[in-house]
Amino acid sequence: MKLILLGAPGAGKGTQAEIISKSQNIPSISTGNILRAAIKNETPVGLEAKAYMDKGALVPDEVIIGIVKERLAEPDCAGGYILDGMPRTIAQAQALEDAGIDIDAAVLLDIADEVIEARMTGRRVCPNCGSSYHVEANPPKQDNVCDNCGSGLTIRKDDTPETVKSRLKVYHEETEPLIDFYEKRGKLRRVDGALPLSEATDQIFKVLGL
Ligand code: AP5
Repeated sequence: MKLILLGAPGAGKGTQAEIISKSQNIPSISTGNILRAAIKNETPVGLEAKAYMDKGALVPDEVIIGIVKERLAEPDCAGGYILDGMPRTIAQAQALEDAGIDIDAAVLLDIADEVIEARMTGRRVCPNCGSSYHVEANPPKQDNVCDNCGSGLTIRKDDTPETVKSRLKVYHEETEPLIDFYEKRGKLRRVDGALPLSEATDQIFKVLGL
């Protein structure tokens, strides 16, 4: 299965991608996590991406397209994958098509901006493996410790209320047109992203026929 998860920042893409990845045994590819790792390791891509990410802007298409093409060529992607956070622009979606990548479905986690702004204040992330938690809706087993790798959890730098507002604006302007793009191709599946976590997961599995 080749899947795209679409949705605003904080819609639940990363959380649901991890769940589907475990259940279907396919990798979840998060461009956000790849970029954050590049920043941490101070690679040339990380140094270029940092300024964009800190202010909630999109990293240039050519950087993202290069990263994703390279990642999809790795052997663990042969049996399918989940793209979390890519494509984010029509140019990125077009680049996937031009590379002959035929996805099975684009799942849209549909959610109002007001719900997101409230949700983001409770997010905690693992700086080591990228897992995402919420202090109330999806807490780790042990306070502030990642279930997957045992690292201490942190608050993402771009989760301040002002940056979340900028990211939402960018989402509406740059990413929302992808809804129409995938609808026209018969690939769009809509899910209510404001549902409680496990109910949203159930809806995703239902629209994918899993
Ligand atoms: P990225 O890391 O992809 O961030 P994002 O799209 O803004 O998405 P988030 O990770 O913020 O949210 P999510 O939808 O994954 O939600 P989550 O599951 O964590 O990108 C960061 C930056 O990198 C971008 O701003 C850009 O600069 C750059 N970038 C990345 N990809 C790019 C691209 N393709 N092109 C250009 N630039 C790119 O959930 C959020 C919170 O809610 C968590 O606390 C979670 O536990 C909780 N939660 C989840 N589901 C529910 C639920 N149903 N009910 C209650 N709480 C829930």
